Amino acid sequence: MFSQRLQDAINDQINAEYYSAYLYLSMAAYLEYKDLPGMAHWMRMQYEEEVFHALKFFDFMNDRGGRVILKAIEAPPADFGSVEAIFAQVLEHEQHVTARIHDLYKLAVEEGDYPTQTLLQWFIDEQVEEEKSASDVLARVRMVKDYPPGILLIDQELAQRPAPTPPAAEAA
Ligand SMILES: [Fe+2]
Ligand SMILES: [Fe+2]
Repeated sequence: MFSQRLQDAINDQINAEYYSAYLYLSMAAYLEYKDLPGMAHWMRMQYEEEVFHALKFFDFMNDRGGRVILKAIEAPPADFGSVEAIFAQVLEHEQHVTARIHDLYKLAVEEGDYPTQTLLQWFIDEQVEEEKSASDVLARVRMVKDYPPGILLIDQELAQRPAPTPPAAEAA
């Protein structure tokens, strides 16, 4: 039995993942505008990853015979301030998402829904990675402060971030 309460919460999470995607795409646009193409690339990969998170929940809902309801995606901010401020916002946002995933897990336990708990185990691990990658970049940005050669070096490094794996390929 796939409870309506849990389906509603997963639909909200699909929306939250698309908001995350949209937020990071907006950060990518801002970083392009600031002439930091490597950081913009990193943010674009982050955007793609969030779309894959949304699709992972989307596929799960359909596999379980649930009903996906898509909602309006809130507009993200357009301006993000300094490079340090951007990555601080990424970390803060990921911490917020982690709290949401943990709440969803609590609900899945309350509802006695084991398949959802298994799916959420993957997301719990993923959030550890997400917070780590954001705080690693933030720590390095803080080390160089606003020193341009340091920022450019980090920009070059972040240009190397590989594309994420789509959920369909993972399952195969
Ligand atoms: Fe996500
Ligand atoms: Fe994320």
